[in-house]
Amino acid sequence: MNLSYHHVFQPGTDPAAPPLLLLHGTGGNEHDLVPLARQLSPGSALLSPRGDVSEHGARRFFARLAEGVFDPAEVTRRTHALADFILAASAQHRLAPGRLIAIGFSNGANIAATLLQLRPETLAGAILLRPMVVLNQPATSGSLQGKNILISSGAHDPIVPSDHQAKLAALLEAGSATVARHTALAGHNLTSVDVVSARQFISRL
Ligand code: MLT
Repeated sequence: MNLSYHHVFQPGTDPAAPPLLLLHGTGGNEHDLVPLARQLSPGSALLSPRGDVSEHGARRFFARLAEGVFDPAEVTRRTHALADFILAASAQHRLAPGRLIAIGFSNGANIAATLLQLRPETLAGAILLRPMVVLNQPATSGSLQGKNILISSGAHDPIVPSDHQAKLAALLEAGSATVARHTALAGHNLTSVDVVSARQFISRL
């Protein structure tokens, strides 16, 4: 089994609540999104890996050439490695197959999006907080049928170009995902408005 990522696992207490995959942002760690996940879905099981790439000590899920500049081969390789970990960890921790919802922030949202594009079998849906287009590649036709995705962007985000929300939504909709888009009056950091929209999204799943 490929449990190569250092990770936190917390069992669920409510079998009806979907298990959550937590993917932190650059410089974060596997503990960052646990309080947010507990706010959004208190009874969910939580699987939270730590990014295995170091950018001058800041943990990430794939290396980048510069801010907003990516190497598709590197992103693809890291996406498959994370997907293999998710499948192995889900089996080990007995997470219901096909129910895992990703909650990713920034770099974590970006690799959640590439998981949906390249390895759609790993996720049932996703909450993408401040994502951008990293792989300009549409999801395979029909591969995201029945999967719900929320893209939550910041109107004044200095990192994510303003047209990326629509571009990413289109790449995911090419796979027949149902994509909800939300824009907070905020920058790259999350606000209470993001939490409210994410909670509404998850309660409707
Ligand atoms: C990335 O590199 O994934 C994005 O630029 C977001 C970030 O981590 O700053």
